[in-house]
Amino acid sequence: MPVSSLERARSLLRQFNPSHRFAELAENTEIPATLRHDLARIDPNLLEKIFRQFQAEQKTPLPKILPLTQRLERLETGRWFGFSRKAEAYIASGKLGLLLLAGGMGSRLGHDLPKGTFPIAPVSGKSLFQIHFEKLCRLWKHYGNPLPLFVMTSRVTHEETVEYLAQNRYFGYPASSITIFPQGEMPALCAEDGTLFLASPQRLFFGPDGHGGLISALLEHGMYERMKSLGVETLQTFHVDNPLVPVGQEQLVDFHLRAESEMTSVAVEKMEPLERVGNLVQREDGRVCVVEYLDFPESLAVQRDAAGKLLFWAGSIGIHLIQVDFLRRMALQMREKDDFLPFHVPLKKITTVDGELFAIKPERFIFDLLPYARNPVVVEASREEVFTTLKKEPEPVREDLSRLYRSWFSRAGVSVPQEGWVEISPRDALCQDDLRRLREKGENIPWLWKKRGEM
Ligand code: UD1
Repeated sequence: MPVSSLERARSLLRQFNPSHRFAELAENTEIPATLRHDLARIDPNLLEKIFRQFQAEQKTPLPKILPLTQRLERLETGRWFGFSRKAEAYIASGKLGLLLLAGGMGSRLGHDLPKGTFPIAPVSGKSLFQIHFEKLCRLWKHYGNPLPLFVMTSRVTHEETVEYLAQNRYFGYPASSITIFPQGEMPALCAEDGTLFLASPQRLFFGPDGHGGLISALLEHGMYERMKSLGVETLQTFHVDNPLVPVGQEQLVDFHLRAESEMTSVAVEKMEPLERVGNLVQREDGRVCVVEYLDFPESLAVQRDAAGKLLFWAGSIGIHLIQVDFLRRMALQMREKDDFLPFHVPLKKITTVDGELFAIKPERFIFDLLPYARNPVVVEASREEVFTTLKKEPEPVREDLSRLYRSWFSRAGVSVPQEGWVEISPRDALCQDDLRRLREKGENIPWLWKKRGEM
């Protein structure tokens, strides 16, 4: 006899939460519809596997990892365009799509809105979203066609992101080239017994399933078909919190295409052994992978070569070029086998009906696809030109932006004040070479300036 949804909900409540609140609910003749709906979303077998994995990981050491030995490509960051006809034509014909990962909130900044809406530009106060969209406008002007943009949000950022971007008319980027979709969710688990939590008296707690959730979210929302119809063959993924990300940079695309790579990642030199960035390393079988900072043993992180350089120097900054066919193949494998791509099981603070507590938050990471990719490429870039990241404090990011812009002006022979903050719009220039080009054309170079710290 088929199990009714009420019986299933009841048995899940018994299985996944022995706490008084759940026990009472399980015996109720009626279980609130919202809770039944939430319970219908969970996969008990997967949750059990994840909990067993969490328990096992407490005891298992990491598999052996080695510093990168594969050949690295080196990105010329002072220039965006003019590297390769092939890459240029590829981008201009819309085969490169961009995927902005924007599931995160700005809570750690005291900003209770999607992080992308945080005002970060040093002088104008433009938001992260505006900076990214203005870069896209510059690419559009150069390549003659707008690049297809996909924005992945999460349940908590979706509506506000959609509204914010529409209200700001996508900062001049054509709406028809933008697709916004939300990622999936996973419930949090109790670290002691693998049970579930309530977010409110009648709702289970769910959190975003990590940016690796992108792989199945694309499948679920019909995005692979959309990409196919648009002709997108490669996706560049990037984090919303890095305003310096080199999106649609021709040489990066060229490295990826020349190697016929299924996944290319950008590395920068770590500033210090324990910097909170992922580590691009090699496994014993020679496969490239990323080990996240939380999982990276300190004993390895501090090792140096004879010249004093960190052996594990390569920091991953979340920029990847991934073949769409490969992503789709991986998505189908995940559908077949739910543990095909691992879940990470960090303990993170969550807010439940009983207050704040630490729980297992299962998340997948997009970079875990690297070991499966054919011909992976690692591209090294100079950190000050491609990476700054907004976490808890905006000031260091504003400093990084202003320092970089000032260096472009100075190399282009444009004099700007040496004190205070300097800014240029990404619509006008994406890099030093772009600025030089404006100067050669005799165009007025619009720059902004203000005293440091002035609002
Ligand atoms: C991340 C990387 C780390 C890298 C660092 C560079 C991960 C797991 N770690 O760390 O290797 O060195 O950035 O700054 O990526 N996001 C979603 N949905 C989610 C989770 C995250 O869209 O479920 C997005 C965020 O909005 C953000 C990006 O992914 O754009 C990175 O997430 P975050 O949690 O900030 O990772 P970090 O700890 O900064």
